[in-house]
Order: sequence, then C-alpha cells, then structure tokens
Amino acid sequence: MSRNTSPKLCILGCGTMGRAILSGILSSLSSGVQSSSGNESAFTPEKFIACVAGEESGHRVKRDFGDRVTLLIGENIKGVGEADIVLLCTKPQVARTILMESGMAQVLEGKLVISILAGVTIKQLKDWVPDSTRVIRAMPNTPCMIREGMTVLSCLANIQAHDKELALWVFSTLGRVRFLDEKHLDAVTGLSGSGPAFACVILEAMADGGVMMGLPRDVSFELSAQALQGAAKMVLQTGKHPSEIKDSVTTPAGCTIAGLLTMEDGKIRSTLARTIQEATYVYGKSDRNTSRYLKRAIYDQVRCYVWKVVMSGMKVQSTIS
Ligand SMILES: NC(=O)c1ccc[n+]([C@@H]2O[C@H](COP(=O)([O-])OP(=O)(O)OC[C@H]3O[C@@H](n4cnc5c(N)ncnc54)[C@H](OP(=O)(O)O)[C@@H]3O)[C@@H](O)[C@H]2O)c1
Repeated sequence: MSRNTSPKLCILGCGTMGRAILSGILSSLSSGVQSSSGNESAFTPEKFIACVAGEESGHRVKRDFGDRVTLLIGENIKGVGEADIVLLCTKPQVARTILMESGMAQVLEGKLVISILAGVTIKQLKDWVPDSTRVIRAMPNTPCMIREGMTVLSCLANIQAHDKELALWVFSTLGRVRFLDEKHLDAVTGLSGSGPAFACVILEAMADGGVMMGLPRDVSFELSAQALQGAAKMVLQTGKHPSEIKDSVTTPAGCTIAGLLTMEDGKIRSTLARTIQEATYVYGKSDRNTSRYLKRAIYDQVRCYVWKVVMSGMKVQSTIS
C-alpha cells in the first residue's frame, strides 16, 4: 500500500467487537466528525471487508452495514488478500488456526495486523505471521460500541510512525486512545476493560440510595449516571485532579462532607483500588504471567501476615506496659 492511497481494511472475525469498530469508523466518516487524531483523509479506508465463519454472523453484518461492507463467509484468505490492514477480531482461541491456515502467510506478507485479542501477546502473534507482517496489539473496552471507549495500543519499538498513526486513527473513531508498553496491558484490562462493570455497580448503588430516599428508580438511574458521567468528563476535560473537583463541592459542615466520611468509613477507596488489583491478577493469571502474578500475590500475603504479627506484638507490649 502506498502512503498516498487509501487503505483497504479487512475485519477478520466481524462479531460484536468487529461490528462495533466498523460502525465507529463508518459513522465517524459519515458524520464528518473529526477523530481525535484529526488525520481522516490520510487513513480513510477505500474499502471495508468483513470476514466471518457462519451465515448468522454474516446476516448481522449485512443488517448493520448493507452494501457499505463486502461480506465474506468462510473466505478469510480472499479477504486478507484484498486488504492492506487486517483487524483481527476473532475469539483468541481460534486466532492461531486462522493465521496459520495454509495460504494465509502469503497473503499476510508485508501487511499490518492490528489485533484486539485479549491475552494474546505481540510475540505470540509474531510467531503466527510472516516476518514481514507488522503487528500492533489493541485493548479496547465495551463503551467503544457507543464511541465512548478507551483503547490502549502496544507495539514493538520498530513499528513505523505511519502504522502507529493509522492504528490511532482507527481507534480514535471509537473514543479515546493511547499507546502504552505491552507490560501494562494486564493492568489496562483490569482497569479500563473491567472498569465499566465496576462503574455500573457504583452507579446502581448510588441509585439505590436515591430510591431509598424516595426517588423513582428511573429518575435515580438518570441522576446517578449523569453525576458519574459529569464528574468523569470534568476530570478529562479540565485535567483537574479529582480531589480538586471533590473539594470544590464540599462545603464545611455540609451534606457532601457527611457523605464523604460515610464512604471513607466503608473503606471505599481501598475496596475499589483492590478491585482493580484483583481483576489484574486474575486476568494475568489466566495467561502467560502466572508466575509473575503468583509471586506478587505471595509477596502481598506475606507482607500482610508480617504486618499482622508486628501489630499483634505491639498490642501485647502495650497491654503489658
Ligand atoms: N467484548 C469486549 O468487551 C472485548 C474487549 C476487548 C477485546 N475483546 C476481544 O475481542 C475479540 C472478539 O470478541 P467478540 O465479543 O467480538 O467475539 P464474537 O462476537 O464471538 O466475534 C467473533 C467473530 O469471529 C468470527 N469467527 C470465528 N471463527 C472464524 C473463522 N475461522 N474465520 C473467520 N471468522 C471467524 C465469528 O463468526 P461466527 O459467529 O460466524 O463464528 C464472529 O463473527 C476477542 O478476542 C476478545 O478477546 C473483546
């Protein structure tokens, strides 16, 4: 693909996430809304190809995109062969078989593969494709489906700037995007991948409080969701520290400080921080990082135990004296 021509994009495995990414790109193109990279013309694909395995998935692609997307069922090699960029969106467990299928190496030569497979490392991907294939790993989250997502991208140091910019453009149509070293991707999954689920628990609990105090359930949900969205947008848009925003609405002896102290009594900060830690451990344990996270978990347990022993020793001392 020449730098001056529009690329052809193949979504290899166009299921829930593949369709979300496609609709993000297509709607940002048709609405004329600039992506955060602001580099539309250079990257706008001239053709979209969606590869799926079965009729049902194919039907969903047709229903959502009609003729704007070329649908291929059971024709991965043809789809990849016609494309310049391959967005790998299958389930992780089938990716190796698909990429190592006979004839696939030839059509992957010199192409860019962007993988959204959870837990599949760049090294694993590089092992499954020819040397000339460039690989970028992406970790999007579910709000990408409404273009309010967060995607973290990782690549090897030798990836060219043009490829990085192109990947940034693709995911900037779905929300925020940034590059990070691959070693952070487990924590990214624990925080931004699982984060929407954790935020929903907070949202629901706040709404329960509203219901307890007499608000109708639907009104409570709306108020709670908007409060969380508003606070999050203030942090992102102003760049202010969250505590600055919190302090600005906390009147001395007022209702907010009363509520805040109740939250602190319930150890909400450590509960939420540990939630992310645990999600990261569990995610990391499920793949190659078992030993790294096991060591870390054992270290935490030992530290906790030593702390308890020290504290109980101090209590005994103070009882004696
Ligand atoms: N969901 C999330 O929030 C999230 C977040 C980050 C990353 N991810 C990653 O996103 C990936 C996709 O997840 P998903 O929820 O979109 O899965 P999905 O809905 O099951 O989509 C997978 C797609 O791959 C197709 N496929 C399966 N075998 C194929 C083959 N041999 N050749 C071509 N296509 C094939 C499926 O077609 P058929 O249905 O016809 O079999 C389906 O269209 C996963 O790797 C996941 O780790 C997901």
